[in-house]
Amino acid sequence: MTRGALIDGVALAKKVRERVAADVAGLKARGLTPGLTVVLVGDDPASAVYVRSKGKASEEVGIHSDTIKLPASTTQDELLTLIDRLNADRSVHGILVQMPLPKQIDPDTVIRRIDPAKDVDGFHPVNVGLVLTGSTEGYAPCTPAGVMEMLREYGVDTRGANVVVIGRSNIVGKPMASLLVQPGVDATVTVCHSRTRDLAEHTRRADVIVAAVGRANIVTADMVREGAVVIDVGMNRVPDAAAPRGYRLVGDVDFDGVKDVASLITPVPGGVGPMTIAMLLQNTARAAARALG
Ligand code: GUN
Repeated sequence: MTRGALIDGVALAKKVRERVAADVAGLKARGLTPGLTVVLVGDDPASAVYVRSKGKASEEVGIHSDTIKLPASTTQDELLTLIDRLNADRSVHGILVQMPLPKQIDPDTVIRRIDPAKDVDGFHPVNVGLVLTGSTEGYAPCTPAGVMEMLREYGVDTRGANVVVIGRSNIVGKPMASLLVQPGVDATVTVCHSRTRDLAEHTRRADVIVAAVGRANIVTADMVREGAVVIDVGMNRVPDAAAPRGYRLVGDVDFDGVKDVASLITPVPGGVGPMTIAMLLQNTARAAARALG
């Protein structure tokens, strides 16, 4: 059996973006231009990079994108007022408030204020519930939706498979488990986290591992069964004097070691990351299509 075949997130994301571009062209022909508004509060440099790439990717598929930048001193009421205005704006189909937010603002309060029909991040409790109950009406969060697309496209058979998700965040781990357990996907899902007693005991039984903790090298070769599929959601900066910016990006998986054991593996960068943005575009196009009725 081949080992260490790459899941090419860049190529797959391109395919998704082309599909979305065709959908957007169809909507435009019917007189509607999908609109995405991204709100960035404060000046976290990593967030600024993400927001720029979301704006650029939107324009490339024909989605009109607006970025609203607010100072780090913005109050929660000011942000909620802005969300009310965007909720009421018929030219805005998707609203994304970039996380993390400054500490005077409660992220849950903000997320709950977004109209669920415009919540293209899939963070609103209504969408969380719709995804968990298996309804296709909700929006699934972009990163786990991107992972599902990868598994489908690469023909990974999840039916009855042991899938171990490492990480229980609301953005990745929990919605990942929600999607994997649905009828039709049919995985047997284990969610591991920082309090899991023996992580390796779980991962060694996994047919598929999804690592989403945000800690470099948490998954090493000895923890992976021969032939397992390994999806690395991690995006960690590690100091590297030789790199132009003084750091390089690595995932949660020790790629060099694990690639010789896994049958399929996602690289970092070039794996899950590009898929996340592609799925955001897909959710936005869907939100616009729904506005058209
Ligand atoms: N910060 C890190 N990832 C995300 C994401 O998917 N959506 C938002 N809104 N903020 C993030």
